[in-house]
Amino acid sequence: TEETLVIVKPDGVARNLTGEILRRIEAKGYQLVDIRMLQADRELLAAHYAEHEGKPFYEPLVEFMQSGPVVAIRVTGNRVIEGFRSLAGTTDPTSAAPGTIRGDLGRDWGLPVQQNLVHGSDAPESAARELALWFA
Ligand code: GTP
Ligand code: MG
Repeated sequence: TEETLVIVKPDGVARNLTGEILRRIEAKGYQLVDIRMLQADRELLAAHYAEHEGKPFYEPLVEFMQSGPVVAIRVTGNRVIEGFRSLAGTTDPTSAAPGTIRGDLGRDWGLPVQQNLVHGSDAPESAARELALWFA
């Protein structure tokens, strides 16, 4: 069975959507096997978002992710990486399909970073790397 890292980002926690997001993951049939709430620091986020270093949204993203507590979840199930990304919807919440987490619950707030409620690992290698960082 496969595993992935899901993060409820600071906007999701601040809007009290953690339960709704966990509900959707469980209702889909995936297993929550570990969970922690934490305030991420720059070092952790720099490692997590290393692939985006140098992009225009990198600095606002790292700042935003430190703006409040986040909830990191280890989720397992067959094809959970693809399955959670499907549940989450596309990156931009304005155009994410209704029925998805971002499409149903997210919007553009006119802020410098796309606040899109959740993170989900995008491949087995990134899941392994990210889970090692967040569940060290
Ligand atoms: P994650 O599950 O969070 O990794 O989202 P993703 O895989 O859909 O997006 P990606 O990994 O490409 O980017 C990581 C995060 O950076 C996104 O979730 C957004 O919060 C932000 N981001 C990505 N692309 C853009 C962009 O073009 N503009 C802005 N402002 N933010 C972006
Ligand atoms: Mg990504």
